Formats: sequence, C-alpha cells, structure tokens
Amino acid sequence: MKFETLPGFRSFYPEHCSVRNYIFELWRKSAVRYHFLEYDAPTLEPLELYKEKSGEEIVAQLFNFVDKGERAVALRPEMTPSLARLAGVKANSLKRPVKWYSIGEQFRYERPQKGRLRSFYQFNVDILGEPGVGADAELIACLVDSLQGFGLAQSDFKVRLSDRHMWVLFLEHWGVGDSDLASVLSVMDRMHRMDETQLHASLLPHFNDSVDRFIDHLNQLLAIADIDALSQYFNSLALSEGIREQIQSRLVDWSALSDLLKSMGVADYIQIDFSIVRGLAYYTGFVFEAFEASGEGRALAGGGRYDDLIERLTGNTMEAVGFAMGDVTLLDLLESKKLLPDLSPKPDLMLLFIDETARSEALSDAHTFRSQGWSIDYPLKLQSFSKQFKIANQKGLSFGLIYRSEELEQGQVVLKNFQTSEEVRIERNSEHLIERLTSILGQGQVLSSPLCEDKPL
Ligand code: HAM
Repeated sequence: MKFETLPGFRSFYPEHCSVRNYIFELWRKSAVRYHFLEYDAPTLEPLELYKEKSGEEIVAQLFNFVDKGERAVALRPEMTPSLARLAGVKANSLKRPVKWYSIGEQFRYERPQKGRLRSFYQFNVDILGEPGVGADAELIACLVDSLQGFGLAQSDFKVRLSDRHMWVLFLEHWGVGDSDLASVLSVMDRMHRMDETQLHASLLPHFNDSVDRFIDHLNQLLAIADIDALSQYFNSLALSEGIREQIQSRLVDWSALSDLLKSMGVADYIQIDFSIVRGLAYYTGFVFEAFEASGEGRALAGGGRYDDLIERLTGNTMEAVGFAMGDVTLLDLLESKKLLPDLSPKPDLMLLFIDETARSEALSDAHTFRSQGWSIDYPLKLQSFSKQFKIANQKGLSFGLIYRSEELEQGQVVLKNFQTSEEVRIERNSEHLIERLTSILGQGQVLSSPLCEDKPL
C-alpha cells in the first residue's frame, strides 16, 4: 500500500472511535465528579516551551521542525508546560485552587512498542495554586476513581507513590551536587531496565569509591513499603542538621497524605515505592504512577507535584500537582480484563418501507423523530422487507417502524420488536406515537439494551 499510516500512529475506524469516545466520556465524567473544569491548548507549541523544562528524555522525543515563518515549533509531547503557561500568565486573576482537566492528543517520537506509540491521548488532571497535601490527595483519589470508573478493581491496578523531594535529600546526603542531580535521577528512573553491572557502571562516575555502599543503601530505600519503615530508615542515617530537618518535615507530609488517602477510601490502592522517580525534570514533591497490579507493562498514568515550573515559565509563582493517564495502556488493560462493553453503534430506530409513497411518509416522520434526539436510520434505496429485516438483524437492532400502505391508509404504522418479532399497530401523526417511542427509546438518548429489556412491547 502506497500511503500507510506512519509508524506509531493510529487510524480510527468507527468501531475504534466508539471505544475512544467511551474512554473520553468516562475520563470526563470522573473529572466532573471531582469538579475539575476543562481547558485546552494548541497542539503545536514553540519548541522553547519544552527545552530544558521537561527533561532530556522528552526533548529527545520531540516531533519538531521550523515552520514557514522560521519559528522553531514542536507537536506537544505532554500538556503540562502548556497548562503551566495558560495558568501562569493569569496567575494573579485566577481563583485558587485552580482545578483543570484536559483530554487531548500528544506526540512523542518513541520507538513504537506495546503500550507506547508516537501519537496517543492523555487525560490530564491538575490542581494549581495549592501547596498543601490536600491537593495531592485529591488527585490520587481522582486517579483511582477514574480507573474504577472503567470497572477496574483493587486487584487490577495499584498506584505507586514516591517522593522526588525525599529523593533529592537522599542524594544530597550522599554528596550529589546540583550539577549531577539530574543525571543521577535519570539513572534512578531507568534502573529497572538495567542489570547490576549496568547500574554499577552508570553510578560509578557520580559516587566513585562509595558506589557499592550507595547501591546497598539504594536497595534499602527501594525495599521500604510503609511510612514507619521510611521514618526508621532516615532516622538511622547520620544526616546533616539541614537535611534532617527537611526529612522530618517531609515525613509529616507523608503521614498527612496517608491519613487523607485513608479517609478518601483509596489507601488500599497505594504502594510506597521509591523506584518511582519520574522521567520528567520538573517534579518537586510526591510523585506517583499507576500500574496494572502484576506490575508488568508500562504505566497507565503518572504524575506528581511540580511547584517551580509555572514560575520558571512565566515568572509567576503558583504551586502545582497533577497526573496524566494515557489511552494506550488503559485500552490494553481493559481488553485483557474484558471490561469493554459492547460499543457497536446502533441507531435507536430503523424505519422500513418498500415503495415511494411509504418512503415519503417515513422521511417526514424521520425528521420529527430526529428532532426528538433519537438516532434514526433507513435504507437509502428501496429494497425488500426481508432484506431490511436482515440488515436490522445484522445491526442487532431492537426496534423498527414499518411503513406499509395497508396501515398507512388507516393512519397507522407498525412498531416491530426485532428481538421478539412482535408487531403492534400505532396511530401515526399523534402524540401517542412519540409517547410510545419515548417509553421504549427513552428521552432522545441512545438506546441502551437494558432499557429495551425492561420495557418490552
Ligand atoms: P508521563 O508519565 O510522561 O507524564 O505520561 C503519562 C502517561 O501518558 C503514561 O503513564 C502513559 O500512560 C501515557 N504515555 C506517555 N507516553 C506515551 C507513549 N509514547 N505512548 C502511549 N502512551 C504514553 C506526563 O506526561 C506528565 N505531563 C503528567 C503530568 C500532568 N504531571 C503533572 N501533570
């Protein structure tokens, strides 16, 4: 084929669009349940917005080019820098806390593989202008809630919680200075893909003679699974006064966050896991990622606190915390758990006829029905009733209205239940017909099958 879809990009046939719409709808509903307001931003942004602010990994994955006006531009790889700009320029007039969400396409020039594409959709949910852990808790709860909305349970996914601030203090304790911090964090972010020798080799330039002792402590940190163990571990270290104070204050935040997550009923979904460092450079506090419970596969979602980004981009101070969930890993998980409902789109009602006179009557009714909000279909060319019944059957339709001269002459049409083959005559041109259809199809809503089963003819 001459014009194939580019690697890592997807074409969406109607059946794929139905699934995508379903995911977007449930994402939107969960954001609304937490009273987040929707925003959007351009897909194409100045390249500068991502340089150095998002971190090496994302910058290396940019789809960027110079436009006809000689501007260096990039397709957005994530929403966060655009959001930071949007909120930052209005920082003084926005009512805090700002609770915003967005659903949109992102582009990253990654090697396409399971769970990773070059174009994908993200559900971004962020709270800006609130420094307290209440905002972190709200977002983690919203993340859990949105996954639950798809029918996923505690046995299906976990949220791994870590702390970039604690990581920085831990590395500071080991003498890692500002100039080395980003590259050591980047090794930490990639360590799950390394064997012992590779990890040793990557850390050696930063730790020299202490590398083995550091790796030993790294393993202790990674083994921590609860707050008591976390505080015991840091209390056992000979920390400088400055670092000790900051660690103590982080431990207070950890227990406050933990209490809130308990109150919100999501504590059982959370696992403390310091292997989560997050690849993006801008995080400053709690960071978290959601994974399938087995821990296999790529993350379903990731996020954390990034209190400095807005100031660095716009000069206005505004604390921030948020997460993004991707559609690719989510869809893989929903398919593997068989949690996708039947989403094949069906009209609410099919109109059936075999001659021109009946067609003209049916078309005029179709207009009335459509103005009620129902989805109406009919054959675009005349064909036999048996052919039309076959089509209705193939589409899995529940109801049809048959326009036949013998009933039309008496001002009537026939309502057919395709499931039971039952036929009932109904007066046309009357409120009665609309009422009857409303009782079966609902108020201009797409027909859902349980509704038809509840209300047989
Ligand atoms: P991220 O971890 O880079 O975070 O991406 C979040 C989610 O987007 C991932 O967990 C994954 O589901 C999905 N994702 C990322 N890259 C790909 C890809 N190449 N193909 C398919 N899915 C992908 C961020 O983007 C942050 N901006 C999130 C955030 C919002 N932090 C604060 N607010």
